[in-house]
Amino acid sequence: MTETSDTLQVEFRNVTKLYGAVAAVKELSLGVRRGEFLTILGPSGSGKTTALMLLAGFVAPSSGDIIISGKSVASVPSYHRDQGIVFQNYALFPHLSVRRNLEFPLEMRGMEASERATRVARMLERVHLKEFGDRMPSQLSGGQQQRVALARALIADSPILLLDEPLGALDRNLREQMQGEIKSLHCEFSKTTICVTHDQEEALTLSDRIVVMRAGEIEQIDTPEALYDRPTTRFVASFLGEANFLTDREFKIESDARTSDAMPMIRPERIRIIPPNGRLQADNGEHQFASGTIASMIYAGPLRKYEVRVGSTVVIIREHVAAGQQIFRPGDEVQLEWLRSDIRFVAS
Ligand SMILES: Nc1ncnc2c1ncn2[C@@H]1O[C@H](COP(=O)(O)OP(=O)(O)O)[C@@H](O)[C@H]1O
Ligand SMILES: [Mg+2]
Repeated sequence: MTETSDTLQVEFRNVTKLYGAVAAVKELSLGVRRGEFLTILGPSGSGKTTALMLLAGFVAPSSGDIIISGKSVASVPSYHRDQGIVFQNYALFPHLSVRRNLEFPLEMRGMEASERATRVARMLERVHLKEFGDRMPSQLSGGQQQRVALARALIADSPILLLDEPLGALDRNLREQMQGEIKSLHCEFSKTTICVTHDQEEALTLSDRIVVMRAGEIEQIDTPEALYDRPTTRFVASFLGEANFLTDREFKIESDARTSDAMPMIRPERIRIIPPNGRLQADNGEHQFASGTIASMIYAGPLRKYEVRVGSTVVIIREHVAAGQQIFRPGDEVQLEWLRSDIRFVAS
């Protein structure tokens, strides 16, 4: 698909936002496709919220331009940008009932009362809060409040939905449940959604594409699968999932694909542990090996996590627990085996 103003709903064009000498966002160029779920992922302070606030119009760029639906929004105030927004802390109006919270954006758009009532009833039903219209926000659980916030962001039928750490305040189970809810709302309403999070699992679960940000700049942008499987930098490899970096001291990994500053990396589930005498297959050159000692073993439900010491490097390995599988104990001498083709080279 070529990226034109037709397929792009939102574009950052070389946008910088300075706070004093600090560039919270630095020369950001990014296109978000119509109907896409795009997540901006990065550690605290990497500029995620600033990027979202620039888009929402709560913050003005120091330089560069933002294009929404083909038009520059440089002079469009936030209340004219036609976006639904969900903040981390819900920001429901505490003195308004759930129903009045949902009506508010419709009132702002001048919708008449009977149409408002119909829409609110339909939306309350959709987010499973039919019985809760007359409650005040303080009378709802965290998950329910967050569903109201989502409903309020969706109800005016704006083409763009902005989410800032939408599940950050919820506990783990509720977070997973709400991830499913957000995903199904996205399938149903097809809003162009830009979500900001520091939670890699949330990003992997929800997104069509993920932008990894670091210190105000894009480090890599790709689909969840591609980012996990082919990270281009050491930062991305360690921020998204677990990574083993194979130092030259202990592992001599040569490859034509390797440039001078590249570091070989392999994911923990790509390595097999075998007993010292266990290598029976003839080596056809596709495998690589290292000798090590088990340092620790942690049983975690469906997975077993090993730490294996190879020289001064600790290699992490994750194995699916299977019947009849050999279990290794701390102190065991083992060999590690992996496919040459599972090594990735990342910039350091
Ligand atoms: N209003 C502000 N005034 C000064 N510095 C700010 C302001 N907002 C953000 N920053 C700085 O900009 C950087 C990015 O912040 P932010 O966008 O909130 O990051 P994130 O959402 O990724 O945690 C940080 O260094 C932060 O301290
Ligand atoms: Mg933030």
